[in-house]
Amino acid sequence: MARPLNIGMIGYGFMGRAHSNAYSQVNHFFDLQYRPVLKAICARDEAKAKAFAATWGYESVETDWRKLIARKDIDAIDICVPNNMHREIALAAAVAGKTILCEKPLAMNSQEGAEMVAAVEKAGVANMVWYNYRRVPAVTLAKNLIDAGRLGKIFHYRAVFLQDWTISTDLPQGGAGLWRLDVAAAGSGVTGDLLAHCIDTALWLNGGIDRVTAMTETFVKERKHNLTGKVEPVGIDDACAFLARFKNGALATFESTRYARGHKALYTFEINGEKASIQWDLHDLHRLSYFDHRDEGTLRGWRSIHVTDGDHPYMGKWWVPGLQIGYEHSFVHQVADFLESLANNKPASPTFRDALETQKVCDAVLESGRTSQWVTVG
Ligand SMILES: NC(=O)c1ccc[n+]([C@@H]2O[C@H](COP(=O)([O-])OP(=O)(O)OC[C@H]3O[C@@H](n4cnc5c(N)ncnc54)[C@H](O)[C@@H]3O)[C@@H](O)[C@H]2O)c1
Repeated sequence: MARPLNIGMIGYGFMGRAHSNAYSQVNHFFDLQYRPVLKAICARDEAKAKAFAATWGYESVETDWRKLIARKDIDAIDICVPNNMHREIALAAAVAGKTILCEKPLAMNSQEGAEMVAAVEKAGVANMVWYNYRRVPAVTLAKNLIDAGRLGKIFHYRAVFLQDWTISTDLPQGGAGLWRLDVAAAGSGVTGDLLAHCIDTALWLNGGIDRVTAMTETFVKERKHNLTGKVEPVGIDDACAFLARFKNGALATFESTRYARGHKALYTFEINGEKASIQWDLHDLHRLSYFDHRDEGTLRGWRSIHVTDGDHPYMGKWWVPGLQIGYEHSFVHQVADFLESLANNKPASPTFRDALETQKVCDAVLESGRTSQWVTVG
């Protein structure tokens, strides 16, 4: 019988749903020593929190996250609220000795992130950040191929994350749903929201980034603020493109925008090595494109690997070969890995310390965007 891990989740928005689904499903598919129990959901609006609790099966509701953290029957705090709240909640949860799962980006900046790392390490509590794309089976397969040396020396890393939902000048900033446009709540725009994912994957696949040079733009300079009712300057980056040099010598380009008309969540990366290349596309997430120069010449070409076989990462836990899984499963995989690490008393990546490296790259990118200089990653 798996041991219960009592979850107290803060925030019931997009990620609150994705995580609740993962906690509910994980023990149905993975054989684990721990079993998440949906003990409490915390949000400011009690009626909405109660409705969420009823939908997902949470046992209780809190409206003040401090009360949630003070509860003795809560083992793990899951932080699913806007970025400006991550630090304060994580510091309090660490002092209370709770296991902490925190949404990305870890913090508003690397100074906050460093405080959070120090707090969880001092308290000795298990911690993880939800950079979920690592657990898409095709992305994990890419990692396995790179680690096995299939690509050889890596020359290039190319990533984009494109959306188009903030083009309208009438779109307000701030408040529910639109906190991402408010720099006080988000910390940055596409850099912390979208590029952070690309950077986390890149650091995981290809090692550390040494230095960056970036170009950022805020296309709509003023928007009505939902919380103040006034038209206020927009402080986020609407678009960001940067060049990077990896510590292993690879050259990289990263681009993200919310102004690429027609694109909703086009996250792609391509890696070119001496022996082979790989490509991945979130819109076709169960496929990994692979080109191997060592193939017989006349048959050489890009293969599209349908990552659904039982010996592909995570796939043996799901259906039969050929049947696909989706976005939500990356969260199920992350919970499964986290619970397994907890049982083995090992860190589950990305830890707060791992996620701090992504935060440092984001900080360097934003600084370079302001100064137009190359910036060494701190
Ligand atoms: N891993 C991913 O792919 C991914 C995707 C989306 C969002 N995120 C991250 O998840 C976090 C939440 O984003 P989201 O898209 O779920 O946002 P959202 O706007 O859908 O939900 C935010 C939730 O926080 C709640 N909240 C705000 N202030 C609160 C307070 N004082 N006390 C309690 N609850 C409060 C809101 O009521 C809402 O339920 C952000 O850090 C974001 O960057 C990660």
